[in-house]
Amino acid sequence: LTLIGLFGHPIHHSRSPLMQNAAFRAKGLPYTYVAFDVFPEQLKTAAESIRILGMRGVNVTIPHKVDIMACLDELSPAAKLIGAVNTVVNEKGTLIGHNTDGSGYVRSLLEETRLSLPDANVLVLGAGGAARAVAAAMALQGAKRIQIVNRTPEKGRELAERLGTFCPAEAVSYQDLPELVSEADLLVNTTSVGMHPNEQEIPLPPDLLHEKLVVSDLIYNPRQTRLLWEAAKRGAKTHGGLGMFIYQGAEAFTLWTGEDAPVELMRKTIESSL
Ligand code: ATR
Repeated sequence: LTLIGLFGHPIHHSRSPLMQNAAFRAKGLPYTYVAFDVFPEQLKTAAESIRILGMRGVNVTIPHKVDIMACLDELSPAAKLIGAVNTVVNEKGTLIGHNTDGSGYVRSLLEETRLSLPDANVLVLGAGGAARAVAAAMALQGAKRIQIVNRTPEKGRELAERLGTFCPAEAVSYQDLPELVSEADLLVNTTSVGMHPNEQEIPLPPDLLHEKLVVSDLIYNPRQTRLLWEAAKRGAKTHGGLGMFIYQGAEAFTLWTGEDAPVELMRKTIESSL
């Protein structure tokens, strides 16, 4: 039996154990996935235990995605660009950090919306950890242009600079949203605005939304945020955050096991738990 962990704090809300264990069982693989509540001051010791206990790897979640990097031997190009790790693989004692949040997001986006990234003007709301992951993945996959608008402009500028090596990227201002949204092909909300179930908050004035847009919200609980609802009402194509969660897990599954993940089963497992 091989152990795979999840390091986070707090951890009780996570649906990853349910999803990953269902996937291992369905494929007949001898892995067990266990969540560990790791306090920040214990992260280094917890990372050492991956080697000591012979674990195949771990997922890493809030608040450890950045700090775990200092405990690892190697980082994938995506993890380096994003500046965060959500998946660790133990290759015979060498700990390798990956980031499947961004690539999982893009896979879900392309499958669900059929958008063509090389033709897409992308407008990202927010510049935190989640924005870094999805914007970096879109830049690596050759988006036509990425614009970032953030409440704290300095963070938006930093992110745009990071992306600039891979595709045209710039920080833009909230005041220019009407024009920016009218020219965008894809609008992505990475802020936490709209996150709480029953919350009616929306990260931009809904009348800016239009039918030529694909509107994507990383929030998956509620499944339909007010942003997505207002977008659908105006004829826009919408994309919720559930697919990102499923595919970040599916790509981690493949990194650990070398096998394709049973994506449909993972999706059904999560849907029936929501
Ligand atoms: P995550 O890892 O989920 O991205 P984060 O790194 O804390 O979390 O980033 C949260 C993002 O949501 C940030 O872009 C934040 O804007 P600031 O950089 O100005 O803090 C944005 N955000 C959170 N609450 C917001 C609000 N009420 N209005 C606008 N933006 C908000």
